[in-house]
Amino acid sequence: MQETYTLADATMKVIQDRRSIREFTEEPVSERDLDMLLEAARQAPSGENAQPWRFIIVKDEGMRKKMGAIAGGGSGRRFTAEFVTKKMQERFANLQDEAKRQAAFQKLTSGQVSTFMADAPVNIVVCGKKDVWDTPYDTSAAIENILLMVTALGLGACWVIAPCIDIRDEERMKDLLGIPEGYKAISVLSVGHPTRPHRARPRLAINELVFNEKWGEEYYKKEQS
Ligand SMILES: Cc1cc2nc3c(=O)[nH]c(=O)nc-3n(C[C@H](O)[C@H](O)[C@H](O)COP(=O)(O)O)c2cc1C
Repeated sequence: MQETYTLADATMKVIQDRRSIREFTEEPVSERDLDMLLEAARQAPSGENAQPWRFIIVKDEGMRKKMGAIAGGGSGRRFTAEFVTKKMQERFANLQDEAKRQAAFQKLTSGQVSTFMADAPVNIVVCGKKDVWDTPYDTSAAIENILLMVTALGLGACWVIAPCIDIRDEERMKDLLGIPEGYKAISVLSVGHPTRPHRARPRLAINELVFNEKWGEEYYKKEQS
């Protein structure tokens, strides 16, 4: 018998099932699915209804590879800075296996960790208007709408800021994608069919996150997961 959900339960299931997916099969994303993702984005809330978002759909392999290289460069610089300032070593303090530590450092500092968009069947480049105050929030709302629709459609996606972090990459993305003055690439969503199921990454317990009337006052009395 098919399981039935109320709308709220179904919505919660989509929210809880969402994962960042970074490995995709070669199966393309159908036009119909892509339309659903873009309509989900269009319906997002935005400050003063400014709708400062624009979306560029990138499927061309050459373009994907160039974006992957920009993402790898940005990510490599960021993680190298973490390594040099010893932040990365702190982050991996619990990883005892030396070979695994070295492999992780190498994957991060080389930027290889962020090049997967080259192999995603489709990348949605989320651009935002630079002179709108709320653009970071507005585009984030649109992105989350897309990610939830991705999950509802049985697809997988990852939100990637790696090619959009620094000003040099902003210029590279502008040149590559023909983004006009006044707009910038905010994030890339790499989308496709997942190669395998993924486990959920851990979340902080709800009683650590929620306060009653004032910061620090317990809202949830008992520890909950
Ligand atoms: C603003 C933002 C930027 C992110 N940028 C990257 C990125 O550049 N590369 C990447 O692999 N994952 C990126 N992620 C994905 C996070 O690593 C991921 O959401 C987090 O580890 C939790 O895992 P989950 O999404 O599977 O729950 C980003 C997520 C957010 C919200």
